[in-house]
Amino acid sequence: MKKIIFYLMFAVSLYSQAINANSQQLLQLIDYLGVDYAGAVEQGRVINEAEYKEMLDFSAGIHQQLAALPDNEVKDELLMQGAKLSQWVRDKKPAQQIKSLTDTLHSTIISVYNITVTPYAQPELKQAALLYKQHCASCHGVTGEGNGAAALGMDPPPINFHDINRYQQRTLYGLFSTITQGVAGTGMTAFTELTDKQRWSLAFYVGSLAVKNDIKPNDVNHHPLADMTILTTITPAQAKAQYGEQGEQVMTFLRSHPDALFTDKTSPIEFTKQKLRDSFTAYQKQKNDLAYQLAVSAYLDGYELIEKNIGALDKQLMFDIEAAMTDLRNKIRSTASIDSVDNQITTINKKLDVAAALLTSKSLSKEATFAGAFFILLREGLEALLIVAALVAFLVKTKRLDGLRYIHFGWVSALIVGILTWWASVSLFNISGASREITEGIAAIVATVVLLYVGFWMHDKTSAAKWKSFIDDNMHKALSSGTLWTLSGLSFIAVYREAFETILFYQALWVQTGPDGQAMVFSGFITAAAVLVVVGWLIMRYSVRLPLRQFFAVTGWLMFILAIIFAGKGIAALQEAGVLMSYPVNFFRVDLLGIYPNLQGLLLQFVLIVLALFLLRKKSN
Ligand code: HEC
Repeated sequence: MKKIIFYLMFAVSLYSQAINANSQQLLQLIDYLGVDYAGAVEQGRVINEAEYKEMLDFSAGIHQQLAALPDNEVKDELLMQGAKLSQWVRDKKPAQQIKSLTDTLHSTIISVYNITVTPYAQPELKQAALLYKQHCASCHGVTGEGNGAAALGMDPPPINFHDINRYQQRTLYGLFSTITQGVAGTGMTAFTELTDKQRWSLAFYVGSLAVKNDIKPNDVNHHPLADMTILTTITPAQAKAQYGEQGEQVMTFLRSHPDALFTDKTSPIEFTKQKLRDSFTAYQKQKNDLAYQLAVSAYLDGYELIEKNIGALDKQLMFDIEAAMTDLRNKIRSTASIDSVDNQITTINKKLDVAAALLTSKSLSKEATFAGAFFILLREGLEALLIVAALVAFLVKTKRLDGLRYIHFGWVSALIVGILTWWASVSLFNISGASREITEGIAAIVATVVLLYVGFWMHDKTSAAKWKSFIDDNMHKALSSGTLWTLSGLSFIAVYREAFETILFYQALWVQTGPDGQAMVFSGFITAAAVLVVVGWLIMRYSVRLPLRQFFAVTGWLMFILAIIFAGKGIAALQEAGVLMSYPVNFFRVDLLGIYPNLQGLLLQFVLIVLALFLLRKKSN
């Protein structure tokens, strides 16, 4: 059992996105050529021989790497531009001309090959300042002027981040790539030991040292630059050229306050739409796997977080959107026509708009927030509570009070680990919605197996005589440690499965309401917790009063029913994560009972029921 728990934790932490290192390196080369060329050639003459040689090298490298890109309809065009770039460098064309060509190449590659150019998590500049002192100050200097102790005599010297001309020419994504990949042949190594989020935080930090702007310009959040993809891929000089003084101000402000972008823009609905757009773009380029992944992410990392809030307002709409998203995934899987995928996304978007309007008009009401907070906990907590209460009742009934601490250890540590997992997911790794569902699905399936086992074991003892002898036998010796750890593990899995997700739902609810609503979130939470405590107490009180035989029959059946519910939920979670196919069938759906209208889940539940009835019959004969 302990091993399984460890595996679950690892499954969560190891699941991370693969980076397309090759294209990142290509982009870095292009970026460098654009920025450094001005230091090599002036007015048609070479002013720095070594630098110019490097530029020739770079342009040849770019051409070569362009040729190695996967084929698609714009590749020929890209190759032509690459050839042109080499030619222009040989012709010592003006720096401005080179820069505009590299900028075009850069942005075309990013959009055509769907390269991720934005941080997944909000960059933290305070954390970055500490990391900077620790890892970078020795070369780049404490204040970033390139004059650290280790910089003496270093060739090439570390960059001075206060160099305003260089700052004007650098994109945040360019800085991020340099920190990620390093610069071959210089003191600047790849900082692969830092997480993605830490490297992004550092990019924002060093990218805002030259110019600081702490005064929030008007209308920041409606400015075109208030878009992560644009903010990270254009330079301050371009921002000024395209959006004037205001653009320059917005850019300097956002570089030192990335949080301004994250708080106002993480509406899960917007996020969902963005992912759907990305998914469609990928599908158009025949990158079906990527399109599928993005469609899964649209659902799990966006929509699912507010699904319950929508459900509280309009249940049918909630199911409609979910079904439409499933259809989309099935279409992508079965390589439907581009038009039909496009139509499907339009359908989803329309429904999402309805949901968004509903949420802004209604969800801010105190009642809805309260109801949301109340039902989230009640729903997520009820199954866990049933299991823990039944286990406690079992020990009380069999007079094995010494085993209680194992049960308590199980659920308390599940709460702690759940909180840690949530914390890790938002601050350390990017645990995607898909890996969250995989963890949940595996936990549910494991719980199914253990519950079945425990259920049969209890049922097996329904003859009072058997129990009497079991209790008498065990009264004076400790329960075996295997049994105790099974109980502990079951109590852990039952709670862990729900804890992490409950926190995520609360987080989503929290960002959607104002200060008034947040008081309602608390009230909803506390009321639901109180209801759970009362239900738990009732179960224990009345179940313990049952005669032995009935007690074991009832708890045995309870475990068994929960096992079937978990089986359905586990399958559904794995389907949502996209690791299991889903064949929709015409059947009703009851979330609470783990009944979902798909063939795999229903079939498994059916098999379990038949198996159980068969075994129980055999036992009672
Ligand atoms: C051992 C010395 C050294 C350390 C430590 C170091 N750097 Fe550098 N860094 C350099 C050198 C040298 C360059 C210039 C490379 C070149 O000329 O292309 C550079 C370049 C850069 C650039 C490119 C800037 C631009 O405008 O192109 C960035 C960004 C950067 N470093 C960030 C960092 C960060 C962040 C850290 C700490 C995590 C760090 N560096 C640690 C030596 C170092």
